[in-house]
Amino acid sequence: MRRGDRLTRRQLLTRGGIAVLGLAGGGTGARVAMAGGLLGKSPAGPEPGHSGPATEPVAGPRTLLAELTAAETHLDIGGQVVRTWAYGDQVPGPLLRGTAGEVLEVRLRNRLPDPTTIHWHGMAVPYDQDGVPDLPAPAIGPGRDGAYRFTLPDPGTYWYHPHVGVQLDRGLYGVVIVDDPHEPGAYDAEFVVVLDDWLDGTGRTPDQVLRALGGGMAGMGGAGMGRGGAAGGQAGAGPAGGADAGAVGMAAMPGFRSALLGGDAGDVAYPHYLVNGRAPGAPATLGARPGQRVRIRLVNVAADTAFRVALGGHRLTVTHSDGFPVHPVTVDTVLLAMGERYDLEATLGDGAFPLVAVAEGKGGQGLAIVRTTTAGATPPVRARPGELGRRLLRMGDLRAADGVSLPDRRPDRVHDVVLEGDMMQWRWTINGHGDGDMAELPVALGERVRLRFVNLSSMFHPMHVHGHTFQVRRGSAPGPRKDTAIVLPLETVVADLVADNPGRWLTHCHNLYHSESGMMAVLDYLP
Ligand code: C2O
Ligand code: CU
Repeated sequence: MRRGDRLTRRQLLTRGGIAVLGLAGGGTGARVAMAGGLLGKSPAGPEPGHSGPATEPVAGPRTLLAELTAAETHLDIGGQVVRTWAYGDQVPGPLLRGTAGEVLEVRLRNRLPDPTTIHWHGMAVPYDQDGVPDLPAPAIGPGRDGAYRFTLPDPGTYWYHPHVGVQLDRGLYGVVIVDDPHEPGAYDAEFVVVLDDWLDGTGRTPDQVLRALGGGMAGMGGAGMGRGGAAGGQAGAGPAGGADAGAVGMAAMPGFRSALLGGDAGDVAYPHYLVNGRAPGAPATLGARPGQRVRIRLVNVAADTAFRVALGGHRLTVTHSDGFPVHPVTVDTVLLAMGERYDLEATLGDGAFPLVAVAEGKGGQGLAIVRTTTAGATPPVRARPGELGRRLLRMGDLRAADGVSLPDRRPDRVHDVVLEGDMMQWRWTINGHGDGDMAELPVALGERVRLRFVNLSSMFHPMHVHGHTFQVRRGSAPGPRKDTAIVLPLETVVADLVADNPGRWLTHCHNLYHSESGMMAVLDYLP
């Protein structure tokens, strides 16, 4: 990891809250032009003809520099001020944006009381930039600075978050957009829509929640804590004991059920569901003009909540899954689990429309307002557009676009990745391994590898692989490229990948409380 030693000669351009730094020269002699490639596009739309750096009179790729400060802060999340941890005193954190092939360098100033990292979710960065503590780079200590530097790989919608404990369930997350220098960009406007479940600063911290569930380090002795249903407790019954548990006031669990998720919909009751950092009572407004074709980049950064999303009065055409293009499919509503992204297109009507993110199986919802006129009345806080009950996108509807579909090939190696949970103990395992004893999935450079995610538990798990974007298979048929895929209870999801990025890569459930309670394995390149 580089430590900011390359930031000596710089030019500071501040745009919309992010420091964008242009760097000339540097240790490698790379030449750099700075044209404000980060956060370049306003929500109202990309500048027409944006087509990347092809005409720039510089040798070598551009380097984009950004500085992020992770710190404790107070934030208004729409009607409530909370104390939390965030990047740049904002939630979501600053949007990072560049074009594929450009170099992104992010300096991280850690002003948190704990060590932290940044993981680049979904991006095929080199192993030493992956932001998992000691795999291989150490975490950045409190009060210290660190830096990440890599060439922006595949175009698409990605995100960043810490990979230390349950820090993600505070306000530490942001979006990375990698533009495609070859994409025509057949849209007039763009909305980045970030969905989150929120509890930090409302009376309990994510660490208290993890302890009350019985996961993490020592646990609290477990049975019944926060899982009243599984442990035979009753709804509303308090936790079985312990100081944290009292403060946490976990919802007992029989309540969270969803047919779409195959039963159990989550473990943690959240007081708020946020869209772009705002609770429904004071929602964010996404502005455009009537008749515009809008690209909506949906990102679920929640820790324990899947969202079902619809835009009142509109159908949605799905164009990308986890950053990669698909053959377009038009639906009314999409379900995103934790870590997943979909890019959608819609042609906007004239008025003010609710963009609703129902916390699937949990009852609450997040809201943003899409507004194309100043005249229209604002939709109500509890708006439930009919689209939510109409045609839902299924994984089986999606097929990777031809340019990104993996060539048909027999796998060189097949790994079963067996997902199990002991609800009583709050232990989650992969191939029988949990807690600090990760299952190893060996692969060799150049192989076609097949992962078969076999869910033997009674809960859904969004399974994520670092450093690679796999392709889901349905029998012999190719599905979408993804880096995070929902595996429903008692279901098997088959995912093929090309082993082309050497390292030791985490493969884990993106339910943060599951991964922190053992549901993590490592895809390990053989020497
Ligand atoms: Cu968002 Cu280990 O990942
Ligand atoms: Cu899980």
